[in-house]
Amino acid sequence: MLNKIKQTTDFLNNRLQNTPRIGIITGTGLGGITEEISANTEISFNRIPNFPISTAPGHRGMLVAGTIKNIGIVVLNGRFHLYEGYTPQEITFPVRIMSELGVRYLLISSAAGGLNPQFETGDLMVVTDHINLTGQNPLTGPNLDALGPRFPDMSRAYDPDLVKLSEQKALESGILLRKGVYVGLLGPSLETPAETRFIRMIGADAVGMSTVSEVIVAIHCGIKVMAIVAITNMNLPDSMKESSAEEITATAEKTAPLLSTLWKNIIPALPL
Ligand code: HPA
Repeated sequence: MLNKIKQTTDFLNNRLQNTPRIGIITGTGLGGITEEISANTEISFNRIPNFPISTAPGHRGMLVAGTIKNIGIVVLNGRFHLYEGYTPQEITFPVRIMSELGVRYLLISSAAGGLNPQFETGDLMVVTDHINLTGQNPLTGPNLDALGPRFPDMSRAYDPDLVKLSEQKALESGILLRKGVYVGLLGPSLETPAETRFIRMIGADAVGMSTVSEVIVAIHCGIKVMAIVAITNMNLPDSMKESSAEEITATAEKTAPLLSTLWKNIIPALPL
């Protein structure tokens, strides 16, 4: 693992023109932020040594690096999911690379189903905490002490100061921002009404098939995390409607400009 990390980091260091301090992972249909970047490097994931290849719909699989207001940014436009068959170590490899490149803040977006009945399709929600129900953890196996601790503390995984900052910037931008707990599931099947009732009862406001593994590795590396999810469909167990990947992607694409505006206002305010 350490050899692979070095090889990939060297490859990217030779190509990036700025040291990235902020890393962004975009979710399904949510890649709009790349248009805000004065981009000077774009590299397809399949040209980056040791990167897995993204197969999910709505995910382009491109690394975009540049600046916003002179701050070095690296964006992974497209991500890897456990349901594609990758191991949790494989899907979080890019987070390790971001850490080695110099990233201090990881901003994550993803599409999610809304479980809190006060939410509506198209809402944005800042994640205050998560429940990892994927059944997997990217830190299993021998711990590489050079990368982080064996038992990383998760009591402030979604940095409360960053949650506050997102709320402040949303208010200033006139954007309604919900707040809540994200449950990460393995997928790829969507939830039954009984599963939906269960995850709501254990404390979830939103549910998705990503994010939790990446956050665990970011915390292991000492990177601060902010996650904002787009509520692409509402899942209410007593009146469960059909959802489709097409509908989820279409709603995410509609929400993307709002999320880009919010990221654009948050980024210059991060204390680097
Ligand atoms: N369930 C799980 N993942 C999702 C959903 C959902 O309803 N919507 C978007 N990602």
